[in-house]
Amino acid sequence: MDVRALAALVRERRPCVVLTGAGVSTESGIPDFRSPSGLWAQFDPLEYGSVEAFRADPEKVWRFYAPRFATLTEAEPNAAHLALARLERAGLVEAVVTQNIDLLHERAGSREVVEVHGSIRTSTCPGCDARYPLAQVLELLGDQGVPRCPACGSVLKPDVVFFGELLPEGAMERATELARRAALLLVVGSALEVYPVAGLPLETVDAGGDLAIVNLGPTAFDSRATVRIDGSAGEVLAALADELLG
Ligand code: APR
Ligand code: ZN
Repeated sequence: MDVRALAALVRERRPCVVLTGAGVSTESGIPDFRSPSGLWAQFDPLEYGSVEAFRADPEKVWRFYAPRFATLTEAEPNAAHLALARLERAGLVEAVVTQNIDLLHERAGSREVVEVHGSIRTSTCPGCDARYPLAQVLELLGDQGVPRCPACGSVLKPDVVFFGELLPEGAMERATELARRAALLLVVGSALEVYPVAGLPLETVDAGGDLAIVNLGPTAFDSRATVRIDGSAGEVLAALADELLG
C-alpha cells in the first residue's frame, strides 16, 4: 500500500483539498451506490433517486428512503472520517468536499465541509416552503411513515440533491474554487461517475495541481492520478494520518 508516497505528496502540497464519496461511509454501515452491493445495483436510480419520481409518487420514494434515513442517523463516523478531521486540525487538509448526505464528516470533527449534494440535516415542504430539522422529520417519519408538513400537509422532501435537480446554491462554486486552487486534490471513496462533481479532479489537474485517489476498485480518473491506492478508506487514511502525524 503506497501510503508513504501519498504522505510525501500531502506534506509537499499542504494543505490539500479532499473530495469524498459514498465509499468513505461504507465502513460506517452505509451502502454506496455503484459497487456490486451498492444501492443502484438493487434499485433503479431513476425510479427512486430522481426528482421526477419524487414528484410523481413521494410516498413510494419515502418507502425507499425511510430505511436509509434510519441507517444514516444510526451510523457513526469511521476511521476515515476521523483521520480527515485530524489532518484538518494539523493544517494538512484545507476542506472536505463531500457528495455524501450523511453528516458524518461534521460529526467526526471536520470544520470546512462543502456538501455538494445537500444533506439530511433538513427537509423542505414543496407546498409551503417550510423547512424542518432532521429530528422533527424522524418524528414525523415514525408516526406516519411518510413525513407530512405540519403546516400544510404536503409530503416533505429531504434537502438532498435528487437526479435532475440543481446542486445547492454556492456549494458547487465553492467546491470548484477549492479544486482550482488546490495543489493536491485527494479523492477518497468515489467512482467519479456523477457530474458536475466528477469534473472537479480536472479543475485541479488543468490548473497544474496533483490528483491522488484512494478507492476500492477503478475510478474514471485513475490515469490522471499521481498516486493511486486501491484500498479501504478507513485503513489507508488512518495509516496516512499516522505516517504524517505519528
Ligand atoms: N474504501 C474505499 N473505497 C470504497 C469503500 C471503502 N471502504 N467502499 C466502497 N468504495 C468505493 C466503491 O468501490 C466505489 O468505487 O467507493 C466508490 C463509491 O462510488 P459510488 O457508489 O458511485 O458513490 P459516489 O461516487 O459517492 O456517487 C456519487 O451518485 O447516486 C449519486 O448522489 C449520489 O452522491 C452520490 C453520487
Ligand atoms: Zn407545508
